[in-house]
Amino acid sequence: MNTNLWTVDDLTDLSTSYPQIAQAAKMLKENEVVAFPTETVYGLGANACSDEAVRKIFEAKGRPSDNPLIVHIASQEKLNDIVQDIPDYAKQLIKEFWPGPLTLVLNKKGEQLSDFVTAGLNTVGVRMPDHPIALALIKEADVPVAAPSANRSGKPSPTQATHVYHDLKGRISGIVDGGPTGVGVESTVVDCTAAIPTILRPGGVTKEQLEAVVGKVGVDQALLEEGHAPKSPGMKYTHYAPNAPVIVVDGSRSFLQTLINQYEKDGKKVGVLTTEEGKSELLAAKVIACGTRENLQTVAANLYDVLRKFDQEDVDLILSESFPQAGVGEAVMNRLLKAAGNQVIVEE
Ligand code: TXA
Ligand code: MG
Repeated sequence: MNTNLWTVDDLTDLSTSYPQIAQAAKMLKENEVVAFPTETVYGLGANACSDEAVRKIFEAKGRPSDNPLIVHIASQEKLNDIVQDIPDYAKQLIKEFWPGPLTLVLNKKGEQLSDFVTAGLNTVGVRMPDHPIALALIKEADVPVAAPSANRSGKPSPTQATHVYHDLKGRISGIVDGGPTGVGVESTVVDCTAAIPTILRPGGVTKEQLEAVVGKVGVDQALLEEGHAPKSPGMKYTHYAPNAPVIVVDGSRSFLQTLINQYEKDGKKVGVLTTEEGKSELLAAKVIACGTRENLQTVAANLYDVLRKFDQEDVDLILSESFPQAGVGEAVMNRLLKAAGNQVIVEE
């Protein structure tokens, strides 16, 4: 398959006549899959009403079919076509955070959506992305767009068009290149089918931000302790993993340096994920700064790109600093621990 690469440089004027977007939208209408930028990560889009189109997403990604997809919409009216029983707190969240990195899981309505989108569940995750290209594309295609992150299943999510091209060239019909995404970690997934909202996946909107709008917000037990089956099917799979094993180090930089030295003595090529603050203090085969500790949003924005960079360096092992689990640090640590398969070394 030939993968078209469309570049959109000027994000200020995306009237529906923008030719690259019109071409990508045409392909979505023809039930082809195309990747596009959102404010979180690049998505791999397909017409959510077509079994044929949605099946192509699962094939291109190598995604397990029991893992449902998020449906992306560009206007609030579309929401009422696909979901029902929207609680008041969900309406408040929509008012405050859409368009933005927040996915609401609601009761599915009618037969419009393909059953492959929801993996047979009677709920559906919906969000309105805050990115001019995503919004223009969905509007122009005039269908709800199912879109998981546009990476091969198990790999770090794509925050640049080149990441998508690396993983999916020849497997999808096109990629709209809108430059690097901003937030860098995926949307927060919130279950809105019970009396109070529950976070199923931490993401771009923090728990603190949600609570400021609706009061008490629950957290899926599976995120807090091991041994609980996650309510969000996707949370149980290996995710975000670079080629080399990742170990998260919970301790001081001198402890991290001692570990680096031990592994290097054993003949390992060690990659280190640190921040601008730690870069000059650490010595290893490859040290990469991922944003600044002072502003964890910059760590989120660069995380997946840095994990992918270690693949190019052919390191044997990646040791990563850990981050405070508050604000967007919650999502950063969730992704890092998944990349590490929960391998953590704690300083005594
Ligand atoms: O930021 C994002 O959300 C990106 C961009 C492209 O929008 N999309 C994304 O999609 O991260 P994906 O497919 O990689 O992750 C979707 C997550 C999975 O963990 C999935 O299990 C969960 O949302 N999910 C989707 N529908 C659900 C449902 N009905 N109930 C529970 N969890 C659901
Ligand atoms: Mg994903």
